[in-house]
Amino acid sequence: MEKYHEAVFRKKAVEFLNIKKNGIYVDATLGGAGHSSEMFEISTDIKVLAFDMDKDAIKFSKNKLEKFKNKIIFVNKNFSYLTSAMALNYWDAIDGIIFDLGVSSFQINEKNRGFSFMNNAKLDMRMLQNGNTSAFEVVNYYSEERLGKIIKEFGEEKYWKNITKNIVKGRKKSQIETTFELKNIVEKIVPQKNSIKSVARVFQAIRIEVNNELESLKKGLESALSVLKKGGRIVVISYHSLEDRIVKNFFKYENLECICPPKFPKCVCDKEKRLDIITKRPRTPSKKEIEKNPKARSAKLRVAERC
Ligand SMILES: C[S@@+](CC[C@H](N)C(=O)[O-])C[C@H]1O[C@@H](n2cnc3c(N)ncnc32)[C@H](O)[C@@H]1O
Repeated sequence: MEKYHEAVFRKKAVEFLNIKKNGIYVDATLGGAGHSSEMFEISTDIKVLAFDMDKDAIKFSKNKLEKFKNKIIFVNKNFSYLTSAMALNYWDAIDGIIFDLGVSSFQINEKNRGFSFMNNAKLDMRMLQNGNTSAFEVVNYYSEERLGKIIKEFGEEKYWKNITKNIVKGRKKSQIETTFELKNIVEKIVPQKNSIKSVARVFQAIRIEVNNELESLKKGLESALSVLKKGGRIVVISYHSLEDRIVKNFFKYENLECICPPKFPKCVCDKEKRLDIITKRPRTPSKKEIEKNPKARSAKLRVAERC
């Protein structure tokens, strides 16, 4: 089996970047290098800074992009380090950036990473393999209140209270060590017809917490905008409503010229409009794309341009 599925919106997303000769681009989420490869297919006269927290993704893609090794810099860090990584490489501005958020098909299918409730594995879910907090710590050591908040807010799970109570009850008997143990605890407490969806939401919530995904996204978008050249584009592919809301609201705010209350006779806010929104509505993938990569089912593509 291929390690990585075909990148979601591989062609469309890169098309939106308007790749130009000698341009400088960032692939914030390298994964299996589908989007980076597509960029080099359009032009080999570009430079790319590519981030991934996952060292296996970096290793795989370094190999795949071997022939472009003088044109690409790999960074095994969170994309929220964008500006410091650029400074280290004497870059001060970029022509475009792509974020293809969340986990890769490779990470989900890797049995020992603990991302999926379809495989039994140690609770882990860290994209950054040597990161401090794994799913094990979140599930076993977070207070009931904090854990409940995560399942409620990051999982948008309506049975969050009972699920949290059951986790806390379970871990008092013995530590919850594996994905199947966690799955069983959730399944026991929610009505059977919803149970798989609830399990998926709980796993999503814990993964978001472990990898600090929403805060990283906010920071990543801010940093990207601070270094984007006029006419440069931010392209974002998101996979759930929490991510999409952050992107949508960020674009909307940066598109405003003024944030004064409507009753003010004249503007006093000094707000600068920094983005034009290119995709008035998010793009969604075709049936064919979903067949190639089932993860595409929930994908939304949004694009904005520095003005
Ligand atoms: C959906 S996959 C990207 C797939 C990729 N576009 C391709 O063409 O194969 C997301 C990747 O981004 C990485 N990732 C997610 N959030 C990240 C972050 N905040 N910083 C760096 N890497 C991140 C994950 O480890 C994963 O490998």
